Amino acid sequence: MRRRAVSAQKGGVAKTTTVANLAAAWGAQGRRVLAIDCDPQFDLTRALGTAPSQAPATLVEVLVGSATVDAALVRDVLPRVDLLAGHRDLRSLEVGLAGEIKREEYLARALADIDGYDELLIDCPPNLGLLTVNALFAAREVLLPVSMKDSSALQSAAEVRRTVAVLAERDIDITITAAIKTMVDHRRLAYQAIDISLQTLELPIAATEIPLTAAFDNSIVIGRPLVAADPTAAGARAYTQLADELAAKPARAEASSVVVASRT
Ligand SMILES: Nc1ncnc2c1ncn2[C@@H]1O[C@H](COP(=O)(O)OP(=O)(O)OP(=O)(O)O)[C@@H](O)[C@H]1O
Ligand SMILES: [Mg+2]
Repeated sequence: MRRRAVSAQKGGVAKTTTVANLAAAWGAQGRRVLAIDCDPQFDLTRALGTAPSQAPATLVEVLVGSATVDAALVRDVLPRVDLLAGHRDLRSLEVGLAGEIKREEYLARALADIDGYDELLIDCPPNLGLLTVNALFAAREVLLPVSMKDSSALQSAAEVRRTVAVLAERDIDITITAAIKTMVDHRRLAYQAIDISLQTLELPIAATEIPLTAAFDNSIVIGRPLVAADPTAAGARAYTQLADELAAKPARAEASSVVVASRT
């Protein structure tokens, strides 16, 4: 089972959109997917058409040990996709975690016995707090969306890389397997500037770019990822292509190059 966390320190760079659409694409391709909403805003839970109150239990109960993952899941939110829902109480839980021993390992331990999935995909909040660190620790593989319309997204990419480097110094082997260019519009001046700076981060960059299109906003409103709602739309085709690309990419190949590149 491949485990990946989608993380970026910055808000609004398409983390949740990426998780929802990759999950839908892999599910449609016949892979079994477990999507995990690790964000107190629980946008992923909404993007997959459900709500914390509709889940038998959420990630909060799973992390405090009062529910098993199996008992908490919302099953078949999309074909072959199950969801472990988020909840706003993740915020207070995160504060409580700060005083605990092995506080970064809670999610990894909760997910230790998970079986029967090809892909486990975790949506992170827009910061590098303990929930995100738990997600990175549990997944060990990071996908990093970079909004190509906003140059501050780049700084966020550098921050995530630094966090990965700090964890690497503690012998925690976490790899950024792909930076993903989202909200791409080649006509925008910002694109070229961000693209050049992105190269200097020496991260592996996915070849597939996700176009800037309003269709993603509509899909959030209806609670169905674009890949499921309108698979032939340009944005949906891009995520399906990205799902193919990422499925074919080895989990560990870039590990040493990223760690070596992290001299910060
Ligand atoms: N390729 C795209 N083109 C246009 N709009 C997009 C694209 N991807 C995402 N969006 C829109 O941008 C907004 C932010 O997307 P999303 O919620 O996925 O970001 P996020 O990084 O998860 O945000 P947060 O940091 O709040 O969790 C949403 O309104 C979404 O519909
Ligand atoms: Mg989000």
